[in-house]
Amino acid sequence: MSRTHYCGEVNFFHIGTRVIISGWIHSIRRLKNLTFLDIRDRTGIIQAVCSKKLFPSIFLQSLKLNQEFCIRISGKVREKRKKISESVLQKNIEVLVHSINILNNSKNLPIDIIGRKISSEEMQLKYRYLYLRNPDMNKTLVIRSEITHFIHQFMHKNKFVNIETPYLSNPTDGGAKDFLVPSRTKHNHYYALAQSPQMFKQILMISGFDRYYQIAKCFRDEDSRSNRQPEFTQLDMEMSFVNSKKIKKIIERFIRKLWKKILKYDLPNCFPTITFEDAIQKYGTDKPDLRNPLELVDITYLTSSFDKPKRKFSNEDSCILIHIKQVLKDIKSIQLKKYQQLSLKFKIKNFLILEFSSDFLNQTVKKNLLGFPVELFYSIRSNFQIKEGDVICVGIGKKPLLNQFMGHLRSKLAKELDISEKNVWKPIWVIDFPMFKEEKDGCLKPVHHVFTSPKLCDISKLYSNPIRTVSDSYDMVINGQELGSGSVRIYKKEIQEKIFQILKINEEDQKNRFGFFLEAMQYGVPPHAGFAFGLDRIVMLMLNQKNIKNVIAFPKTTSASCLMTNSPSKI
Ligand code: AMO
Repeated sequence: MSRTHYCGEVNFFHIGTRVIISGWIHSIRRLKNLTFLDIRDRTGIIQAVCSKKLFPSIFLQSLKLNQEFCIRISGKVREKRKKISESVLQKNIEVLVHSINILNNSKNLPIDIIGRKISSEEMQLKYRYLYLRNPDMNKTLVIRSEITHFIHQFMHKNKFVNIETPYLSNPTDGGAKDFLVPSRTKHNHYYALAQSPQMFKQILMISGFDRYYQIAKCFRDEDSRSNRQPEFTQLDMEMSFVNSKKIKKIIERFIRKLWKKILKYDLPNCFPTITFEDAIQKYGTDKPDLRNPLELVDITYLTSSFDKPKRKFSNEDSCILIHIKQVLKDIKSIQLKKYQQLSLKFKIKNFLILEFSSDFLNQTVKKNLLGFPVELFYSIRSNFQIKEGDVICVGIGKKPLLNQFMGHLRSKLAKELDISEKNVWKPIWVIDFPMFKEEKDGCLKPVHHVFTSPKLCDISKLYSNPIRTVSDSYDMVINGQELGSGSVRIYKKEIQEKIFQILKINEEDQKNRFGFFLEAMQYGVPPHAGFAFGLDRIVMLMLNQKNIKNVIAFPKTTSASCLMTNSPSKI
């Protein structure tokens, strides 16, 4: 006797049919002469009923059942007699049980998987195999599988070749530390688990594969965050003979089709683009959430035409404004004072929140205008068409810290005022990141990675003023979440060597770490560009999950442990 139907498949059209169903008992309700079982499998839940009057032996057997027993039943589908309770199942059908086969008993579960009580995250991770029985968790992983299926279809259709690259590799030069694996055969030698397939995919371009993709595991030993795991998955890709415009077009098409397929949502035909520099100026972050209507406006040009109180400000200070229109929300509902404290946390000493009422420049306010004359605020009012009831936040300080604070404030305000657009997806490309950032010790570090090409027009800056060089790079951000990142690659050996030189990687180090790659660069490297999406982040965003752990079957804790298997362990 094998299963004839999954629980979720049985419907009105099966009334009168005999079905065999296998699954777990999700819940039981016992009445005097009836036992109701909600039986669950990975497709859904169906109600089954054991009747004392019609099948006394089955009813007796049903008294031995308990939640989460694994059973197989056979019976006839019928219309529900009357609504005994509001079952999880909305359908008006049930199965009248003719036979029950208990495949396995179950102890009472240590965690609640139905969602009536909230179990601690620790317990959910320890008993992951049970937590994965939760219908929502189950659904998430099924949708994740649909997404990966779609990826393979799309990539195959667009002539990308799926190639696996090694996980046991060499250390990488990046923000995160490597996970090291000792070699059994070479004493004192270690592999590093790949942080990404970056060098291998570029090598594949040199080998002539032209279009590569892979759903690849990546390993990075770094501080955990709600959207970070030490072991995560990328949709990794690389293309030859393309520029950034061409590859972005394909990536955009992929995301548009994915959103349509899984969410039935039409993303815009052409995603907006912003440079890194402008993103920082306008939103205070390189991951702007465009659902938030607030923007930062640099009004240094206005303040500098008024006398600055010298004691407080230096010439390098900038002034940034956020204008909150009353039409967006009645601002009186929130406590603005706490943002003053927030500004101090960011070491922004000059910060002002001002509500424009009819007497907005009354005596008390006048005393506290950061030392500026009242005319400045009249000028702001007319320049930004500020109306009665509107609020402005003005921060003065040094960039980029000031932008960072004002960007943080922008998000906090939008959250508290609840003014972000709902049920929309707002993608944006952030492009033209700087090639390098300066560390505290004065050394330069790559903003993306060492293989990222400068913009063609900026190559000469590598030799004259490296820190000003802009890279040919692009990140995709949707609703404030960085989904993926990529760049055009360096394909000329001398430029690659120049980058290493700027980064103070000496010749011996170059040889040890990148020797094979530099050698390969002598054999007709095609121009190429690539990109990698965080697959877990795509799933997280699409399913509106706040934590990456909720979209991974077996995630690690904040301290990178697996509570189910107790890894890492002493060996
Ligand atoms: P990058 O390091 O920006 O680029 O990674 C690409 C994308 O991977 C996701 N991601 C993560 N997801 C979960 N947990 C993490 N710890 C984590 N780290 C990164 C993000 C990110 O945008 N090789 C380059 C790509 C390229 O240039 O082609 C790379 O790995 O969504």
